[in-house]
Amino acid sequence: MTRKLLVAFVLATGSTGCNFWYNEVPSPDDLMHNIAWFDHMILSKAVHPYQRADIPRDTPDGIVPITGGERDFRVGNPRQLQYGFDFAVANTITRPAGMTTLPAERGEELYRIYCAMCHGYQGAGDGTLKSYLNPPSLLTPQAIGYTDGYLYGIIRYGRGLMGQYGDKIVRQDERWAVVDYVRSLQAGAPAPVAATTGGQN
Ligand code: HEC
Repeated sequence: MTRKLLVAFVLATGSTGCNFWYNEVPSPDDLMHNIAWFDHMILSKAVHPYQRADIPRDTPDGIVPITGGERDFRVGNPRQLQYGFDFAVANTITRPAGMTTLPAERGEELYRIYCAMCHGYQGAGDGTLKSYLNPPSLLTPQAIGYTDGYLYGIIRYGRGLMGQYGDKIVRQDERWAVVDYVRSLQAGAPAPVAATTGGQN
């Protein structure tokens, strides 16, 4: 290789090589980040799960959040299939001041996704899974008589045969939207039907 050629080679690769490919050409990551579920590992966006206070996570018993978030009001052993919540605490739970009320459609949507297959689209307890679990109607005087906080507690932690939905409906305002939607079903119910099953305190 002559010296001239060598110089030309070094110039060519040195001036364009890495720069061209890694700095000047738009990164495929930029494109990929436009598609939320199609992330790329080299430059993937950081996710900080502990940054947000409104995402509940399992905490040791009796923990009280000091910077917002939500109190954990379970009792019993979380490792057991069925563990309960503290009804007395649940009854005092109210929608936090300043929390935005979501549109009724969001409550309806969540109810139809997570509740209707058992409790029925109108809340009459006649969902598809009725023959397996015999879910109670939500239109009974008993269900109407529960506090909003109690309904919220059932949604978050489940009760008896009903599993928890707090790990699926993770946002507090969305759980309240479901409470609101159950209330609207109860308000629109033609006549309260007698409790058929299941309800227990
Ligand atoms: C897989 C079936 C199933 C699903 C899904 C389900 N539930 Fe339940 N639900 C039950 C059963 C069974 C009971 C009775 C629990 C018991 O005996 O304590 C119950 C009880 C309740 C009660 C108490 C009724 C009463 O009269 O005491 C409320 C309120 C309730 N569910 C609301 C909901 C809401 C809101 C959702 C959706 C987030 C939901 N459920 C999803 C099966 C289900």
